[in-house]
Amino acid sequence: MAQQADITAMRRAVELAARGLGATSPNPVVGCVVTDASGHLVGEGFHQRAGGPHAEVHALREAGVLARGGTAYVTLEPCNHTGRTGPCAQALIEAGVSRVVYAVGDPNPQATGGADTLRAAGVEVEQGLLEDEARAGNIAWLTSVRHGRPFVRWKYAATLDGRIAAADGTSRWISSPESRADVHRLRAEADAVVVGSGTARADDPHLAVRGIEEAVQPLRVVVDTEATAVKPGARILDDAAPTLIAIAENAENAENAATGLPDVVRLPRAGRGLSVPALLDALHERGVRSVLLEGGPTLAGAFVAAGAVDQVVGYLAPVLLGAGPQALADAGITTITDALRLDVIETARIGTDIRITATPKER
Ligand SMILES: NC(=O)c1ccc[n+]([C@@H]2O[C@H](COP(=O)([O-])OP(=O)(O)OC[C@H]3O[C@@H](n4cnc5c(N)ncnc54)[C@H](OP(=O)(O)O)[C@@H]3O)[C@@H](O)[C@H]2O)c1
Repeated sequence: MAQQADITAMRRAVELAARGLGATSPNPVVGCVVTDASGHLVGEGFHQRAGGPHAEVHALREAGVLARGGTAYVTLEPCNHTGRTGPCAQALIEAGVSRVVYAVGDPNPQATGGADTLRAAGVEVEQGLLEDEARAGNIAWLTSVRHGRPFVRWKYAATLDGRIAAADGTSRWISSPESRADVHRLRAEADAVVVGSGTARADDPHLAVRGIEEAVQPLRVVVDTEATAVKPGARILDDAAPTLIAIAENAENAENAATGLPDVVRLPRAGRGLSVPALLDALHERGVRSVLLEGGPTLAGAFVAAGAVDQVVGYLAPVLLGAGPQALADAGITTITDALRLDVIETARIGTDIRITATPKER
């Protein structure tokens, strides 16, 4: 049984790791706490951005000589490889820590082996403390390593009768101001925010993060097969955040559109538009490890059909419309046995709404 002091230190490390969400890709978020030989907290750190020092290095720097004989609590197995920064396993050995407790093993073949290096140097190593919490905090990166594509979180705001817009297409605002502020947090945690051409036409969305200090702006992406939805002057083309327009390889309007667009990626067609796997591959190549899919229902249906939704965040507002588009359009499911069943992992009251977070059951 883990000691309460170990749990407290690791819980703090998990909290610290979360501060890096949205800023570390293509690296994971990692938090680290160092205690001295008598168990007092002497150093804290988290991985702040790719290319910058790892969490262990920040925490060891803060701890200085007090790390000697102490314990390091890390949310992810300390890395063993020399990338842009040196291997953390070696840094921990050199600092003289006598024990390392980490939550989640590193699935990245290049970085794994840190635990073995530590053990070989005589450091006591334990794995698995608060593993589920640390895994949940790093779910985007872990999913991207596992599937070789970005983690996709699909977010929508719906009325209690499941509508995401009124019959005339208007949808501002279904959800409460608190829910809309919460969406800015989700954007800040994501590397890219994606919408379909239908949403670009109907809403002229901005999609940048507002109201969160020091947030790293996500890449704003419009899936616009024919290169007709994003016109000069669109709000998404301002300089608040980078923007990418995904169009078909053979879009007729491509040459005209490309002149007025900041960055364009050409993709193969599939289904009712562009290939979802090709889009995710293109984003992965650009270092995107987490995507916030903000709709609309047609594009969300294509993502669900492609098996490319890893988490659903629905804001349910106490509002009725009775007509208008549903949250999810055709996802290729025609019979109840094929329904995509989800596990609810959290429900929360946000302003007047209820936020439900759910993940697809393993099939
Ligand atoms: N309440 C909410 O949370 C929320 C969020 C977002 C949107 N909305 C509302 O949703 C409505 C727009 O939704 P929508 O369903 O019409 O549009 P959408 O899902 O935003 O975009 C659909 C379009 O994306 C393009 N597309 C590209 N690749 C695709 C693929 N593989 N599969 C499917 N489509 C693909 C298609 O047009 P092309 O091929 O021509 O490019 C398609 O018509 C608006 O009323 C908006 O206000 C509400």
